Amino acid sequence: MARQGSLSCVGVGMVLGAHLAPRARSLIEQADVVFCVVSDPLVEQWLAGMNADVRSLQDCYAPGRPRLDTYREMQERVLAQVRAGRRVCLALYGHPGVFARMPHEAVAAARAEGHPAHMEPAISAEDCLYADLGIDPGRVGCQHHEATQLLLNQRRLDPSAWLVVWQVALAGDRRNLTRGTTPAHRALLVERLQRDYPRDHEVVVYEAATLAIAAPRIERLPLSALPEARLELQSTLVVPPAMPLRADPVMHARLAALEAGACAMHTVTAPL
Ligand SMILES: C[S@@+](CC[C@H](N)C(=O)[O-])C[C@H]1O[C@@H](n2cnc3c(N)ncnc32)[C@H](O)[C@@H]1O
Repeated sequence: MARQGSLSCVGVGMVLGAHLAPRARSLIEQADVVFCVVSDPLVEQWLAGMNADVRSLQDCYAPGRPRLDTYREMQERVLAQVRAGRRVCLALYGHPGVFARMPHEAVAAARAEGHPAHMEPAISAEDCLYADLGIDPGRVGCQHHEATQLLLNQRRLDPSAWLVVWQVALAGDRRNLTRGTTPAHRALLVERLQRDYPRDHEVVVYEAATLAIAAPRIERLPLSALPEARLELQSTLVVPPAMPLRADPVMHARLAALEAGACAMHTVTAPL
């Protein structure tokens, strides 16, 4: 009987050689074929030391090619090997399912065809950001948006929480075509953010280090300076809260009433 193919999506984390979890490593080592989409040829070389058949999907990208076509081709190459009965590992930088559509779709497509498929969690740019910028997302909350989606939709932002804007260098790229949009596109992003934040609010352009010897880029600037800032494909925009949390007096009162009721009940029912 023909062997059943399978798919594992793993993330190698952000820092070369430092973030790979043991389970992800073993899936890479035991795969029949490893496809990779990583940030640096050095990462590919490192993966090649763990498995003899490592194939980059980087050549699916081409100037002017819609990114959705690129992702479709990547997924097809991966699924063709799964259908051929092979244990396939798809390795991506960061977390394979954070702001990364193709791996989720590849897992869903493989399962729909009856193949076992799963995703391993990994260290993403978000995890590095919390550590490097000293942010605890639980303190006042943290909202994450993709830059173009934020521009194109009527989203409600909460300026009392942190805001993280992903793919900021591609803000406004409606056709998923470019390798970076223009200052005019970013001026529109600033205009959108100004509905909720002051023009001179300090924001951070953040880039996690990808080598253990490098430092992260943490550049603070006023929101209004964003259009002219140097933005790379790996840049993430971090917007600190612009106002304190506002208490909800109605909920305070209702909780106080519940507590008072619970106290009264406790007094009545408590054993002597
Ligand atoms: C397609 S998403 C991939 C994210 C990745 N899956 C992860 O787990 O971090 C690409 C976006 O991730 C963010 N990103 C990628 N590399 C980064 C880095 N070194 N530092 C900060 N953000 C990064 C940027 O917002 C970039 O536009």
